[in-house]
Amino acid sequence: MKAKEWLNAMPSQFGTYDVDVISVEDYKGIVFSGMGGSGIVGDVLKLLLERRGTEVPVVSLHGYELPPYAKQDWLLVAVSYSGNTEETISTVQEAMQRRLNIICVSSGGKLEEIADKEGFRFVSVPPGYAPRYAFGFMLSAVMSLFGFGRSLEKIRKNLDENKEEIKETAYNIAQVLQNYIPIVYGTPLTEPIAFRWKTQINENSKTLCYTAVLPELHHNEVVGLDNPIARNLCHFIILHDPEDHPRVIKRVEITEKIFKELGLSPVVLRGKGESLEERLMYLAYLEDWVSFYLADIYGYDPLPVKIIDRIKESLK
Ligand code: PA5
Repeated sequence: MKAKEWLNAMPSQFGTYDVDVISVEDYKGIVFSGMGGSGIVGDVLKLLLERRGTEVPVVSLHGYELPPYAKQDWLLVAVSYSGNTEETISTVQEAMQRRLNIICVSSGGKLEEIADKEGFRFVSVPPGYAPRYAFGFMLSAVMSLFGFGRSLEKIRKNLDENKEEIKETAYNIAQVLQNYIPIVYGTPLTEPIAFRWKTQINENSKTLCYTAVLPELHHNEVVGLDNPIARNLCHFIILHDPEDHPRVIKRVEITEKIFKELGLSPVVLRGKGESLEERLMYLAYLEDWVSFYLADIYGYDPLPVKIIDRIKESLK
C-alpha cells in the first residue's frame, strides 16, 4: 500500500534544500499562505521563527485574503503541494497587486506557472504524493529557505533511529482511540502539531477529531468535561514540550490530574529529541502512524479524500 510505503520512507524526506537563505530582517513582515497538508508548513515556520527571536511579524494564513497590514516590503511564501489550491493562489494574486515579494513552493500546477511568468522565486518539491504525505519535503524546502537547514539532518536521524518505537506506540494509541472522538490538546509549542494530529486523523482515518490549546482551554473547554455524556464519547491526547513555559507544564499536570479524577486516561506525550524541531517532528511522525493505524482499524484506505475533491470540483 502506497501510504505505508510513504510513511516508512518519511524520515528521508527531511534534508537540506540547496537554496539561497532568506534574511528575514530584509522584510517588514512575513506571510505564509497554504491550506491543509500544505498550510501546516507555515504554522511550523511561524513557531520556529518566533522561537529564534525573529523581530518582524510572522503570519500563517489559511484562507483567501492577506491581512490589511501586509504590504510592499513584506514577503509572501505561498505553499501548495499541488500548486492549484484556489485560496493560496488568491493570496498570491493579492500579493501581486500589493507588490509584496513572493516565493512559491509546489510540485507544479498553477503556482509554478505564475512563478515562471512573473519571475518569482520558485522552490520545487517532488511530485506524485498526496499533499499531506509530502510534509517532510515541503517543510524541508521552507526550513532551508529560512536557514534551518542544519536541523533537517538531525530530524531525519532522530526519526530514523526512533522509527520502530514510534510505530509501536502509534499502534497502541490507535487501538485506544478506536470508537472514540479523539481530542488533541496542544500547548504554545506543540499547537501546530496538535492541529496536524487533528487534520491527519480527519483525512487519513476518516473520522472527526478536535483540538484545543493550553492555557486557553483552561478558561472554557475544561468546563465541557462536566458533561459525562460528552466526555465519555471522547479520548484525550495531550502534547507538550519540555521547553514550554513552566506554568504551561504545571497546567498539563493539573489537566492530567483532573482527567484521572473523572475516570479518564489521557495519553500524555512529549516528543523525543534534543531540539524543539526534532521533538515536534517526532510527534508529527507518531501522528502520521496513529492516523494510518486508525484508518486500518476502521477499514479505510488512508489516501482518498473524496469529499475534499468533490468540494474543489464544485468550486471550479
Ligand atoms: O492533504 C491533503 O490532501 C489536503 O489537506 C491538501 O493539502 C489541501 O486540500 C490543499 O491542497 P494543496 O496541498 O495541494 O495546496
